[in-house]
Amino acid sequence: MEHGKIDWNKVWKDLMTAQQAANKEIEDNLWNKRNNAERFWKRSQENSERTQLTLEELPLTPRSRVLDIGAGPGRLSIPIAERVAHVTAVEPAEGMKYLLLKNIDEKGITNLECVSKRWEDIDVENDLNGPYDIVIASFSLGMPDIKDAIQKMEQASSKHVYLYWFAGTTPWEEHSVGLWPYLYGTSYTCGPKCDVLYNVLYDMGIYPDMHVFPLEYTNNFGSMDDAMDFFRSRYTIETQEQETILYNYLRDELSWEDGQITEKGDSTRVRICWEKKENN
Ligand SMILES: C[S@@+](CC[C@H](N)C(=O)[O-])C[C@H]1O[C@@H](n2cnc3c(N)ncnc32)[C@H](O)[C@@H]1O
Repeated sequence: MEHGKIDWNKVWKDLMTAQQAANKEIEDNLWNKRNNAERFWKRSQENSERTQLTLEELPLTPRSRVLDIGAGPGRLSIPIAERVAHVTAVEPAEGMKYLLLKNIDEKGITNLECVSKRWEDIDVENDLNGPYDIVIASFSLGMPDIKDAIQKMEQASSKHVYLYWFAGTTPWEEHSVGLWPYLYGTSYTCGPKCDVLYNVLYDMGIYPDMHVFPLEYTNNFGSMDDAMDFFRSRYTIETQEQETILYNYLRDELSWEDGQITEKGDSTRVRICWEKKENN
């Protein structure tokens, strides 16, 4: 490393590790639980406009072979499989994988295979069926060594890599920043954003296209009990005092309209994409 030069991969690793440590319980539970996976799927079906835009911007053809890393319940993998020759979906979390396989089955899709591993643990040669014309990782970069992860994406790709990530603090991080000092007596460290990612890529000799877009985030609950159940699974709530702190926070922060309780937030997202260099 040159003198005075910032090691952006270390910046990413430090922020990601701190965030994952703070969210230990959440990380272990969030996408492993079927009800969280189902809520994610329902929300993405209700707000399908963004998915439609993503499908239009990807260079898909009927002959494409696509790798979708951290595919979740198949928000992208499933409609992509309906347009291309083959999709490999990498999805490690139990709840998400369950829903993905259920969705594949219900839709009668036969050209989508699921590999149930974290990207860090994937051996590109032996676990995958590459090369892929398009490699996608959409809001799934929970990978501490992002440089290593990107090198593997390039290894798996014959042409395109598409990453989707965040710019600025997300609405759910804002809740954590607000709640952490009261719940646990410490401040909250937010995860690494697209500025760090861009610098890691730049230092790897990759100069990607960046496109910024807004995305409204809404989460609906039928009652305060439902909202409490959902948020309880995001935080470690062990005492009555923590329960009261969370309740009071949600009562003030959530919007109440026509008997419906909604968590609303504006987020800014980015698409970062590039074509692999011939000699890579
Ligand atoms: C917010 S969901 C996004 C799902 C889907 N890509 C989409 O855009 O709708 C994040 C997904 O990334 C997966 N994920 C997180 N870290 C991962 C990793 N290190 N390797 C593979 N998948 C990961 C999670 O299990 C989860 O299903």
